[in-house]
Amino acid sequence: MWNSIAGLWQDRAGRFERLKAAALVMAVFPALLLGVRAVIGGLGSRPITEATLNTGDWVIRFFLLSLAVTPGRALLDAPKLVPLRRIFGVAAACYAVLHVLIYAYDQKWNLGTIVTEILQRFYLTIGFVAVLGLVVLAITSTDGWQRTLRHRWKQLHRLIWPIGVLALLHYFLQSKINVAGAVFDTGLFLFLLIWRQTPRRWQTSIPAMVPLILLVWIGTALVEFAWYALGTKLDPWRVLRANLDILYTVRPAEEILIAGAAMLLVVLVRRWWKQRLARA
Ligand code: HEM
Repeated sequence: MWNSIAGLWQDRAGRFERLKAAALVMAVFPALLLGVRAVIGGLGSRPITEATLNTGDWVIRFFLLSLAVTPGRALLDAPKLVPLRRIFGVAAACYAVLHVLIYAYDQKWNLGTIVTEILQRFYLTIGFVAVLGLVVLAITSTDGWQRTLRHRWKQLHRLIWPIGVLALLHYFLQSKINVAGAVFDTGLFLFLLIWRQTPRRWQTSIPAMVPLILLVWIGTALVEFAWYALGTKLDPWRVLRANLDILYTVRPAEEILIAGAAMLLVVLVRRWWKQRLARA
C-alpha cells in the first residue's frame, strides 16, 4: 500500500522524482483551492454552479494535459515527462467524479431525479458516458492492468479520443451562447489529434509544426463557424470574419495560433539549451 502511494512521487528505483511530485501538487491544488473557497464563502452568489463549472474546467484541462504528454516528450526530448500522463489522466477522472458528485449534491442526492435528468438531457447523457470512460481508463492505467490486458490495453486506451469528443460536445452544449472556452479547448484537442496522425519523423520537426499549427488554426475557426451555423441563430459569417480582424477581438482560433507560436518558442529554447549543455 505505502509503496503504491510513494510511487506517486518516486521513480521505479524508489528515488524522489521532482517532476512527478510537482505534477501531483498541480493535480491536488485546484481541489484544495475549491475546498478553501467553499469553506470561506468565496464561491460567489451561486456556489454550487461555480463549483460545477470550476471542476468541469479542470476535467478538460487535466484531460488535455495528459494527452499533451506524448507530444511534449517527443518535441522537448524529455522522457521524464512520461509518468505525468498517468497522473494527469487520473486527475481528470477524479475531477470528473467530483463534478458529478457536486451535480448530485445540487439535486439533493435524489437518485431518481439524477438518473432521469441524465437519461433525458443529451448533454448530461454524453457527459456521463465520458465520465464512465475516464474512470475505466484511470482504473486500468496501472502497470498491473497493462500486463493483464497486453495488446488490448492499447486498444482500450485509444478510447480516450472518442471520450474527448463527448466531453467537448458536453462543454459546447452547456455553454449556450458563449462557446469561446469550448472552441479553444477543441483547438488544442485538434492539435493533439492531428499530431498523432502525422508521420513519426515529422512529429519532432519544427518546420513540420508550422503547417500543422496553421491547419489547426483553420480547423478551430471552422469548428466555431459550424457551431454558430448549426446550433444558434447568430450569423456564423460574422464570427468567421472576426477571426481575420485581430484588432477587433482575439477569437479562440487566434488564441490557438498564439499558443502554437508559444509552444514552438519553448521547443526552440529547450533545443538550444540542450545543444549548449552538450557542447559544454
Ligand atoms: C468527462 C465528462 C465531463 C466533462 C469533461 C465536463 C466538463 C464540463 C465543463 C468544462 C463545463 C463548463 C465549465 C465552464 O463553462 O466554465 C461543464 C458544465 C456542466 N456540467 Fe459537466 N462535464 C462532464 C460530465 C458531466 C456530467 C456527467 C454531469 C452530470 C451528470 C455534468 C454536469 C454539468 C452541469 C450541470 C454543467 C453546467 C453547470 C451550470 O451552468 O450550471 N457534467 N461540464
